[in-house]
Amino acid sequence: MKAKSGGGKASAVAAANIAFIKYWGIRDERLVLPVNPSISMTLRSCLSRCTAELLDDGAETQVFLRTESGELAPAPDGFANGVREQVERLCEWAGESRSMRIAAHNNFPTGAGLASSASGFTALTVAVLGALGREVDPTEMSVLARRSGSGSAARSVFGGYVEWPAGESEDAGHGVQLAPPEYWDLCNVVAIVDPRPKSVSSREGHRLAPSSPYYQRRQEELPGRLEIVRRAIAARDLELLGPVIEKDAVELHLVAMSSRRPIFYWQAGTLAVLEAARQLRSQGVQVYCTIDAGPNVHLICRPEDEEAVAETVERLAQVEFVIRDRVGGPPTLDDRHLF
Ligand code: DP6
Repeated sequence: MKAKSGGGKASAVAAANIAFIKYWGIRDERLVLPVNPSISMTLRSCLSRCTAELLDDGAETQVFLRTESGELAPAPDGFANGVREQVERLCEWAGESRSMRIAAHNNFPTGAGLASSASGFTALTVAVLGALGREVDPTEMSVLARRSGSGSAARSVFGGYVEWPAGESEDAGHGVQLAPPEYWDLCNVVAIVDPRPKSVSSREGHRLAPSSPYYQRRQEELPGRLEIVRRAIAARDLELLGPVIEKDAVELHLVAMSSRRPIFYWQAGTLAVLEAARQLRSQGVQVYCTIDAGPNVHLICRPEDEEAVAETVERLAQVEFVIRDRVGGPPTLDDRHLF
């Protein structure tokens, strides 16, 4: 991916990613550097679109969300401030003092544990640099996307299977592609038990994580888990991958639930989906669950099992709807502007 568009206006689309080994614990909040490495799969259908246009000097950066009816509405303060800070950061990096009009849209639930900030801030970063006419390679783009505050954005800059190492220095804190999307066609059936935004941010979760008595234990186990996940991706071995990603997801939530103060992302529906996955496994279906910072469950399976998995969880009373997603590619620039 080359972010180069120029002409003062650019639109980018970027996908969310689902972490197999989770980032949970931050070691440098300003630089957005994690305590532990993480590995994820970039998705294909859960997408964020962003349009960025340069404004005349002196104006303030304006931030809008595209509503379902196609209109632009001013973005809520918290999101707008995060966007403005990232626009400033990117302009400063580019050596320009500019402001912008920004519009953003997600085609999937926002802030509900589906990595909408990873896709949103990646799309923003690619669009802003495109509007500035700057050519940036994916490694540098990953560092710049991460600095938005959404660390997992460092991974959405790449397609396929991606590792974000803990990064000894600020510039080393970028994602690395482990395998391209076509290497292994995996599905992610997302069971939405609650599409509403979560009440405790991941940022708060990262801060509180070390206060859990289980935090250090998970950290000690992570090198072994990361190695298994790297091996499983290289060998396209779902039976090797599945149990370790399910375990890591459950333990992230164990850490969250036992932080001082505790954070409960799970709901009754979360447990119902986990139970349905266990039932499917007992019938021979290879399906494994992972859960980000929210109540919704991502069921990882092979394409030939996607239908059975989706139908099973769709039938559960606590599941509002299901998103059928797969491994996908890197962000792209195009001319489908939001304004
Ligand atoms: C549980 O700080 O990247 O999804 O700002 O919400 O994007 P957002 O979150 P971020 O933390 C991600 C936490 C996680 C695990 C992961 O994606 O690695």
